[in-house]
Amino acid sequence: MIVVPGPSSQSLSCRVGREGNFEVIDMEYSRFPDGEGYLRVCGEVENRDVAIVQSTRFDHEFISLLQLIDACENAHRIIVVIPYMGYARQDRQFKAGEPISSRAIARSIEADEVILINVHSELVMDYFMCDVTNLDASRLLGEYFSRMDLSDPLFVAPDEGAISLAEEAAAILHTDYSYFRKKRISPEEVITSGDMDVKGRDVVLIDDIISTGGTMVEAIQKLREGGARSIYVSCIHPVFVRNAILRLYRAGAEEIVFTDTIENSQYKVSVAPIIARHLRS
Ligand code: R5P
Repeated sequence: MIVVPGPSSQSLSCRVGREGNFEVIDMEYSRFPDGEGYLRVCGEVENRDVAIVQSTRFDHEFISLLQLIDACENAHRIIVVIPYMGYARQDRQFKAGEPISSRAIARSIEADEVILINVHSELVMDYFMCDVTNLDASRLLGEYFSRMDLSDPLFVAPDEGAISLAEEAAAILHTDYSYFRKKRISPEEVITSGDMDVKGRDVVLIDDIISTGGTMVEAIQKLREGGARSIYVSCIHPVFVRNAILRLYRAGAEEIVFTDTIENSQYKVSVAPIIARHLRS
């Protein structure tokens, strides 16, 4: 197995290589004067099993993924690892005339297997034309918090979609979990509701994605009103649009904990072990 590092997931690729004891191939990336991307796999992939690792947060990163797959066409087996898959929130048609964007992307990926991590909607898995595995990193976040000295910890999902993440992470600490109900008013604004007793407790909010931070800010406010002792914020995919981090700290977050599915040097938890374990198996 060779790891082929995509330009958007260079350090995660190296961590996967180290964890799994796989060779990590060298790459060249650059851009033509007109803005088109260029890349080159600097090594032999013919008849070998390759794991291409490339998150697709931005459109040009998706193009790079297609280029990587094409560059590896002589490989024996191509496994495409997309730690963060952009467009996964566009998983269905809401209005006539809309594309199902995640389907359009999934259909264009030719591989023997695709590995995703906490893809926003499991519907997306059905759109690929090959085997798909959706790995869950919530327990890794739970392990991070288990190493802290939290007082009577409670894991809270800021919306119903994140309940399973809260449940899995809470199980690691043998503690309980709860959730808010969320109503989205605009792309940046939500209203949350829910009754839970958080007085004096250390609360860990956990979600799959933090984008604008609106969902978490609203939940932090509710938890503060409820008398939580401290509030930690965590997510799998740190999209962090504009001033999201500032909003979270200003709202009262004690610490923001996230993984390396999207490259960010401030990551606290690496998903490399679960990717490497899956590739090994
Ligand atoms: C949506 O259901 C997701 O799970 C997240 O809650 C959402 O993407 C977060 O977005 P934002 O940070 O903009 O509120």
